[in-house]
Amino acid sequence: MIHHAMFLYLVVTSCVCLLAWVYLRWLQVKQYWAKLNVPFIEPHPVLGNLDLLIKGNPADFMLEIYNRSNGSLYTGIWQLWRPTIVINCPKIAERILIKDFDNFRDRFAVTGESDPTGSLNLFFLKEPKWSSVRRHLTPVFTSAKLRMLEDLAEIKSKQLTQRIYHELSKNEAIDIKALYTDFTTDIIGTASFGIESDATLTGDGPLRKVTKELSQFSLYRKLAWGCYFLLPEYVDMFGFTFFPKSTNAYFLKIFHEAVQLRGGFDHAPKENKDLLDALIKMKYDAATKNEEMGEDLLVAQAAVFLQGGFETTASNLTFLSVELAHNPKVQEKLYQELLAAKQKHGKLDAKNLSELKYLNSIIKETLRKYPITPSLIRVPTKNYKIDDKLTIEAGTPVLINLYSMHVNPKYYSDPMTFDPERFNGNEERILMAFGQGPRKCIGERFAYQQIRYAVAAIFLNFELRPRAGSPKSCDIKFAKHSTLIIPADVLTVDFVPRK
Ligand code: HEM
Repeated sequence: MIHHAMFLYLVVTSCVCLLAWVYLRWLQVKQYWAKLNVPFIEPHPVLGNLDLLIKGNPADFMLEIYNRSNGSLYTGIWQLWRPTIVINCPKIAERILIKDFDNFRDRFAVTGESDPTGSLNLFFLKEPKWSSVRRHLTPVFTSAKLRMLEDLAEIKSKQLTQRIYHELSKNEAIDIKALYTDFTTDIIGTASFGIESDATLTGDGPLRKVTKELSQFSLYRKLAWGCYFLLPEYVDMFGFTFFPKSTNAYFLKIFHEAVQLRGGFDHAPKENKDLLDALIKMKYDAATKNEEMGEDLLVAQAAVFLQGGFETTASNLTFLSVELAHNPKVQEKLYQELLAAKQKHGKLDAKNLSELKYLNSIIKETLRKYPITPSLIRVPTKNYKIDDKLTIEAGTPVLINLYSMHVNPKYYSDPMTFDPERFNGNEERILMAFGQGPRKCIGERFAYQQIRYAVAAIFLNFELRPRAGSPKSCDIKFAKHSTLIIPADVLTVDFVPRK
């Protein structure tokens, strides 16, 4: 009996002590930004400010932070209990991303050590490995090198129009995001893994199964992503993998087979036709310098090209199509530009498409209004002076609030109106959809090339009109619980063949 009472006493005392410790710790956490005199948003005791994120898409979250910041250049928030600084000012953002990049080379995000496809890919790589891999890969993504993919882009954009004609014959609404994802999966998948993919014509295939699975963002993947960005210290404990385990195994298999078909790693590739050849060459060159480079590092890059490229590019094409269906004047001006270029050049190739000013302004305006990722994330390795009033500690996550800058009337008047003229000869405007500085998106030119080919093929062949019942651009909602700015609903437009 006495033992029981003693035990109970110990349990109760421990619980009280634990609760007291948690409470005191919470008081300390809650004071963090006030002590630094930084404007902050009152945190929820468990979620910090992530209670706002639960309500909608991260774009809504970033805008809400800005709206509650009363015009301050930066805002203190808490991700769970982790103090995080949100930068609302483009000038400070530019300093962090470009001028002071040396202190901000890494993202505040980690995938598991035991998951090479996750931890070795360019997005998650940390210094010093990141610089070395990025240096090897950068030359592959120059405009000149990307011309090697012109044939693929041309074939696939022709197939895209064939597929639209085929879908029209069925007289059903076309889910345009799914359609464009078929197209982007084929291009980025074939370029990275060297295998044929016919999703643009068929809507299916082994690689398309992978991208369908990746788009679904299951509960497991949500938890994993939450852990990568919010609780990186615990990723290895939970054993999360960035790609589903079966997808990792599939990537390894197809990559290995494709490399064997091209003669293995012992010779420099005979051709230089796609990203796979570039990856093989990267390993071959490393070997000639006696540098160690495992196959898993290469598979990780092929996988992140697919992950980074398929949904981002498809979403841009989706939003662009809906906007133009609702903006006939913009659409007509684009059509005339494309038609004139076609008459002049006969065939539109990557170079002459890149010179079409209005087409490029339309893509930029779509990236402004729908930047796909609402924020950029970095972490300083040393304490960093933001301005005379604030120095943040090394290790503090920094979120650049790019979405709020893109739709801020201070920088873009009437920001919810789709107006490509904003970018007409005005290249210096704030546009961070691909990030900024040395760690910006490596696939920017690749994405532009794919988008230009697809847009030219679609708008030369069809007039896009609003489809009854499908949301207008002003009514488009962004998907809740996605990390990307993607539409919540199925979007459709009517494709009317041009004579
Ligand atoms: C419209 C299409 C795309 C958009 C809007 C986009 C956007 C972004 C953004 C915002 C980042 C983070 C940049 C930063 O932190 O400063 C990023 C990184 C990255 N993107 Fe893209 N992306 C697109 C297409 C692509 C494509 C086609 C590929 C592959 C070929 C790709 C591969 C990557 C990779 C590997 C990174 C990590 C770069 C690094 O950390 O060095 N992206 N992208």
